Amino acid sequence: MNTINRQIRLAARPQGLPKDSDWSHTTGPVGDAPDGGVLVKVLYLSLDPAMRGWMNEGRSYIPPVGIGEVMRAGGVGRVIASRHAGFAVGDMVSGAFGVQEYCAIAPAAIKPVGLVKIDTRAGTLPQWLNALGMPGMTAYFGLLETGQPKAGETVVVSGAAGAVGQTVGQVAKIKGCRVVGIAGGRDKCEFVVRELGFDACIDYKGGSVRDGLKEHCPQGVDVYFDNVGGEILDTVLTRINRRARIVICGAISQYNNTTPVKGPSNYLSLLVNRARMEGIVVFDWADRYGEAVQNIAAWMRAGKFKSREDVVEGLERFPEALAMLFSGANFGKLVLKVASE
Ligand SMILES: NC(=O)c1ccc[n+]([C@@H]2O[C@H](COP(=O)([O-])OP(=O)(O)OC[C@H]3O[C@@H](n4cnc5c(N)ncnc54)[C@H](OP(=O)(O)O)[C@@H]3O)[C@@H](O)[C@H]2O)c1
Repeated sequence: MNTINRQIRLAARPQGLPKDSDWSHTTGPVGDAPDGGVLVKVLYLSLDPAMRGWMNEGRSYIPPVGIGEVMRAGGVGRVIASRHAGFAVGDMVSGAFGVQEYCAIAPAAIKPVGLVKIDTRAGTLPQWLNALGMPGMTAYFGLLETGQPKAGETVVVSGAAGAVGQTVGQVAKIKGCRVVGIAGGRDKCEFVVRELGFDACIDYKGGSVRDGLKEHCPQGVDVYFDNVGGEILDTVLTRINRRARIVICGAISQYNNTTPVKGPSNYLSLLVNRARMEGIVVFDWADRYGEAVQNIAAWMRAGKFKSREDVVEGLERFPEALAMLFSGANFGKLVLKVASE
């Protein structure tokens, strides 16, 4: 094949918020499907807060992206050439394709890339990066397995209008819990209450989280699903109940720090309340994703569950789009449209 592949590579390790000079925009030939592998045309890419962590040097749950490498990103696309018996031209697939227009996948890379076929009857391509994809899996298993909510309990979730948060709140409602979101701005708060059916939502940019929790969680907090860390985590810790479960999913308020991460000073509330705080990594449930996809897709079909995405168009807009996650400019799961279906 004789087409150009546009790619965005990590040029430097950022200090604080990533800037334009941390990226390089390159082009290369597309080539053909490798022997025994496939060639995928990327249609949508997932923009994730975790990308900020992958840009840092140092040990984590996944190795950092190397300087000069194509930036790591999950995506969905179409197989346009195949020399693999399990994939045919035209198949819709998801995997870690990287910030580029085409991804050639050799047989040995099929597992590490996580290449799988997706069924577009269950949801749209952007939904396969949201409720039916990695954020949805994080929310579903993190809430049900680690948060272990019981009907009648109060579940609080931060980043409530975002990708993970919207699924956490809706699954908790389906399980019979009282659900209180925390989000930035009136529009997002109204959305999670009116559209997604949360019981209440606290606008942390427009008022006090402490007062909001007092008002909306009169029985205290049984499960806190934390997407943001920092001061909000510290405040929620002052309202937890005995045997509460705190799910540490993320700490977006801390990802661009140039000073050490701010930990919770109210952690002795865990002692007083015999409570538990536990971190999660979605990949630990990879062999059970099918179960979550089946349930979430069924709830969507039944009209009990909504999935909201925010689509930015154009591969070259990746740096600008990534920054939206850290200012809260995204409304719903942020995806980058790379090409039309
Ligand atoms: N552990 C895992 O396996 C795993 C997997 C996926 C995601 N995560 C984590 O889950 C969290 C949510 O990810 P997502 O993909 O669903 O992103 P998202 O919520 O769709 O987007 C990020 C949102 O974070 C909020 N935010 C940004 N800066 C903030 C700050 N300083 N304080 C409070 N809120 C802030 C903004 O919403 P507002 O407008 O409401 O402020 C923004 O829209 C992230 O921490 C991510 O790293 C973890």
